[in-house]
Amino acid sequence: MCGIVGYIGKAQAAPILLDGLSKLEYRGYDSAGIAVYDGEHIVGKKAMGRLKVLSEMTHDGETMPGTVGIGHTRWATHGAPTDENAHPHFNESETIAVVHNGIIENYLKLKKKLIDKGYSFQSETDTEVVAHLLDYYYKGNPLEAITKVMHRVDGSYALGIIFADQPGYVYAVRKDSPLIVGKGKDGNLIASDVPAVLKYTRDVCFIENEEIARLSEDAIEFFNVDGEPIEKTYKTIEWDVNAAEKGGYEHFMLKEMYEQPKTVRDTLSPRLKDNDIVIEELGMTDEEIREISRIRIVACGSAYHTGVTAKYVYEGMARIPVEVDLASEFRYRNPILDEKELVIIISQSGETADSLAALREAKERGNTTMGIVNVVGSSIAREADKVFYTWAGPEIAVATTKAYSAQLIAHYLLAIKFARVRGTITEQEMADYITDLKRLPDQIELLLGNKERIQRFANRYVTAKDVFFIGRGIDYAISLEGSLKLKEISYIHSEAYAAGELKHGTISLIEEGTLVSAVVTQEDLYKKTVSNIVEVRTRGAFVMAVTNEGNTEIEKAADYVVYIPKTNKYFTNSLAIIPLQLFSYYVSVGKGCDVDKPRNLAKSVTVE
Ligand code: G6P
Repeated sequence: MCGIVGYIGKAQAAPILLDGLSKLEYRGYDSAGIAVYDGEHIVGKKAMGRLKVLSEMTHDGETMPGTVGIGHTRWATHGAPTDENAHPHFNESETIAVVHNGIIENYLKLKKKLIDKGYSFQSETDTEVVAHLLDYYYKGNPLEAITKVMHRVDGSYALGIIFADQPGYVYAVRKDSPLIVGKGKDGNLIASDVPAVLKYTRDVCFIENEEIARLSEDAIEFFNVDGEPIEKTYKTIEWDVNAAEKGGYEHFMLKEMYEQPKTVRDTLSPRLKDNDIVIEELGMTDEEIREISRIRIVACGSAYHTGVTAKYVYEGMARIPVEVDLASEFRYRNPILDEKELVIIISQSGETADSLAALREAKERGNTTMGIVNVVGSSIAREADKVFYTWAGPEIAVATTKAYSAQLIAHYLLAIKFARVRGTITEQEMADYITDLKRLPDQIELLLGNKERIQRFANRYVTAKDVFFIGRGIDYAISLEGSLKLKEISYIHSEAYAAGELKHGTISLIEEGTLVSAVVTQEDLYKKTVSNIVEVRTRGAFVMAVTNEGNTEIEKAADYVVYIPKTNKYFTNSLAIIPLQLFSYYVSVGKGCDVDKPRNLAKSVTVE
């Protein structure tokens, strides 16, 4: 979603802003803009489309001299993706420039008031209200004007602000939308995400809700909403800047798929100790684990899909009832929560607005909350009572692969731990599960090695209109993710169905040659799903089956078979998803789509 960068220092600002914005491209956007103070005025440039357009327009920033500036990539919410609606937004005399992530919920009311006071608006955005409101309150003291605006606006915001008559400062403010500051050697930066500043510094500070940062060339100060100075601590970012670069791969998605063996290993190994599972960071006593009456999993998108798989795993292994909710539904449903229910929020970014709101809802009701989160220090990680970090490193491609795989591992570890503590599995069973878990990274590597075969197959389907994914139990959960991967990056319509449900309507869509992907890894459901394969095949479908090694009988029913190595029935998702990811990737490449940045999508969805 939208990205923010700001810089003040000794160097030229525009090239740094453009470079920082390029590191945030993965979040998804449809226009971009920068504003730089040139010694006399604030000069702004905005352009619809890719950042490349803005870079060309400004000769990579060279035509915008100045050492202070702010920049933005916009993912349209209020108003179409046009030049006018792109940020930065200005007050009428163009002495104040603002970039904004989030949504000002009461902007219409404020806009009306401002229009009544004689202000005129250039855009349809909610953000422009902030620029004019700042103008209205500004009497020479930026901090005072900013705090007054904070008291007037409802909703979520991360703001970067510069004032023409205060050229020595960049201001940053946040509420419910992430924003960080970076302390550099030759200047200081603000950004909505760490990759934007990594080239210049590893020392970052996370601005908390309703805090303000004031950056000058050589100092960073923090204030609360009353304008009083506050102390903050800095964090050193450990991960490598290369982790956010493509490293020779054609796309981030391919690179990230190839990182899955490492991701799985990194998420597993710190928690495996001598055939035991130790998740110290949760600080959960055995007593607390025994007392869990139900697990409530809440998430969005692919994270939700790992929750669907996890339901089968927790219920099967630990015999704890599980409910899985879409965060956007959960938060407005007035859900009935048992007080002993553990609420698990899953989120790669840790910033998804609906997931964060669901977390707060659960906390308000007094439930214990746990975040399974990838981005260290993100909002969900900070606000959840307990955090289980997936060590996937930065994920850049919009379509998640490695973070998804790491989330699955988190669930497996928690399920085994809970099962052992609650006595639903024996020590021997736990040891066997752990042995299988340790094999997963090599098995994933093996499947990735098979990419050419999948690529050849995928090339036949670049013109497909509809694809259906079917499976039962965990295989259904895998199908949900397989289907989402395909549609989000290749724009081919696809649907996932519980295999037994297809005949209740959707089977009427099967025509001669329609591709049906059947996932058949659950041995106890094997025969049932094979019957469903036969049903669609007799109606003309071309069936691709993903099944366990040894199930060669399936070749009589399916047209094309991908085998996955043997593992425990609970862990097959980690393997079966690999060929489905590869398939989607190669269909997307074959169609010439923008694999890493599919249209209309955002990596981190910070609006509801
Ligand atoms: C977006 C992304 C998905 C992701 C979902 C949830 O829609 O495109 O890949 O699964 O948000 O994101 P989160 O960061 O909460 O896991």
